[in-house]
Amino acid sequence: MSQTNTLTFSPLIIGMMRFGVWGVDMNTKDLERFIDQCIDLGLTDFDHADIYGHYTEEGRFGQVIKRRPDLKSKIQITTKCGIRLVTPNRPDYKIASYESTKPHIIASAEQSLKELGVDQLDLLLIHRPDYLMHPAEIAEAVEQLKKQGKIKHFGVSNFTPSQFELLHSYTPLVNNQIEVSLLHRHPLEDGTLDQCMRLGTIPTAWSPFGGGALFVSKSDKPAIQRITDAAQPLQEKYNAAFDQLLLAWLLKHPSGIIPVLGTTKIARIEKAKEALSINLSHEDWYILLEAAVGEQVP
Ligand SMILES: NC(=O)c1ccc[n+]([C@@H]2O[C@H](COP(=O)([O-])OP(=O)(O)OC[C@H]3O[C@@H](n4cnc5c(N)ncnc54)[C@H](OP(=O)(O)O)[C@@H]3O)[C@@H](O)[C@H]2O)c1
Repeated sequence: MSQTNTLTFSPLIIGMMRFGVWGVDMNTKDLERFIDQCIDLGLTDFDHADIYGHYTEEGRFGQVIKRRPDLKSKIQITTKCGIRLVTPNRPDYKIASYESTKPHIIASAEQSLKELGVDQLDLLLIHRPDYLMHPAEIAEAVEQLKKQGKIKHFGVSNFTPSQFELLHSYTPLVNNQIEVSLLHRHPLEDGTLDQCMRLGTIPTAWSPFGGGALFVSKSDKPAIQRITDAAQPLQEKYNAAFDQLLLAWLLKHPSGIIPVLGTTKIARIEKAKEALSINLSHEDWYILLEAAVGEQVP
């Protein structure tokens, strides 16, 4: 199966993981203002997961949607299922595990619809590969959810190229949301991004700033110091801030990586948007890569 993708994202995706009890615990009035500000910037994609905030974050977002149903037609919502997180909010889960059975996917999607207060999920992702998953069973769940209009698109997150290939042969996958940044470069080498280009799948990048680690200089993390040092002259050359260069590095990749931003601050999102117009030269891209790796390419 190839070239099945009719999904388009806004040029940057707003990640919702840190808005609730796993982060700033933003109240719904401020969240509403934040969503409006993102829409004004033309950034209309919001990335959720059932587990965020110990299964509470979708509900917080949903409170805003219920108050402001007009937002439904202005935004696109991704959410994820398939991780069973141990938390008092799921007392039946005894250990952390993954589940991609048909009943679990369907129940989870239906719960997300309820929490978010929408009739359809624009994109549902399997959050992490379940070692026991059967692709035919997942495909059945997806088909049912699509037929019922409960999901529009389907994709995965953190899938290896072979896991992706297998599932994609049963049901079209439009997105692989993966960790990729100067600190996490495996997708450049393990075939993940090659596969996205071959199949016309959109790669989206979670933790584009290493979860914030790239901003914290630590003597035990020499790679971060090297990246910071190498970026300095480039910041002058491109008249760009450090975070903007880090995004420009991701955006340069020919697979069309779309960063999923983790910041909760609108000013940082405005700056991120400006990074879309930075065109790093080929050599400058390699300067940052070399700094991250700590040695020249062979
Ligand atoms: N699929 C998966 O398995 C998976 C896993 C993890 C995350 N995700 C998704 O990816 C999104 C992004 O992940 P992430 O939050 O780890 O991304 P990230 O953008 O790498 O890290 C966000 C952290 O960095 C800080 N930060 C961002 N910009 C900054 C700047 N310019 N200067 C200083 N600090 C800055 C943020 O704090 P401030 O809020 O103060 O800016 C926040 O603490 C999540 O929200 C979630 O939607 C998916």
